[in-house]
Amino acid sequence: MAGPTFTTRIQEPPGPKLSLPTNPNSNPTVFNDAMKIRMRVFVDEQKCSAEAEIDTDDSRSWHWVLYDGTTAVGTIRLVPPPQGPHGHAVQKGAHEPCIKLTRVAIMPMYRGLGLGRRLVETALEWAAVHAAEVEVQIGRGEWRGLVLVHAQVDVEGMYARLGFEVDETLGRWDEEGIEHLGMLRRISVQE
Ligand SMILES: CC(C)(COP(=O)(O)OP(=O)(O)OC[C@H]1O[C@@H](n2cnc3c(N)ncnc32)[C@H](O)[C@@H]1OP(=O)(O)O)[C@@H](O)C(=O)NCCC(=O)NCCS
Repeated sequence: MAGPTFTTRIQEPPGPKLSLPTNPNSNPTVFNDAMKIRMRVFVDEQKCSAEAEIDTDDSRSWHWVLYDGTTAVGTIRLVPPPQGPHGHAVQKGAHEPCIKLTRVAIMPMYRGLGLGRRLVETALEWAAVHAAEVEVQIGRGEWRGLVLVHAQVDVEGMYARLGFEVDETLGRWDEEGIEHLGMLRRISVQE
């Protein structure tokens, strides 16, 4: 029997009018699908706060959702530079503009199939050929391919195998009761 066929959809930055998931009527469908997964994984499973789950970066970020048929099973978010006050790379002295990959989540029954890795690679491949869009809030040519992840310590291994290296100068910190560390990778960018 053939296995599931997964497809990926991208959501351009949705703009400033996002509503909370409890009132999602005006939000783009792909964004709502991303939020359903994030609420299930980060809020229900990991006990992060629902209020913090949607934040000011959502409106200016790209979102990807992975589907098994019509069922949304995974998501990732790419935050373009400049990173906000909680961008640890900025706070701790890495002033070079970077993109940040966050909120990667796979629904529990779909884990271990390579889908998390696939979402990270999808976002990186897109960024490598869309530098001009990524740089819209900074100067053209200022993003030189630096990619930051704020990784939960449990998934350090996944990012390491994706080519990210821990940057100890970024420190370790607590987000919603979960220890995080900063990891960096540089990708080649086509201007
Ligand atoms: C982390 C997560 C996105 C990984 O997704 P996944 O589809 O199960 O991962 P993959 O099957 O693509 O595996 C990728 C690699 O990470 C490893 N890995 C996956 N989950 C892991 C975990 N929880 N702990 C340690 N390693 C893990 C796999 O062994 C695999 O290694 P390989 O590249 O050497 O084969 C998923 O477990 C998840 O949604 N977790 C809850 C949310 C979360 O913690 N997100 C991370 C926020 S930083």
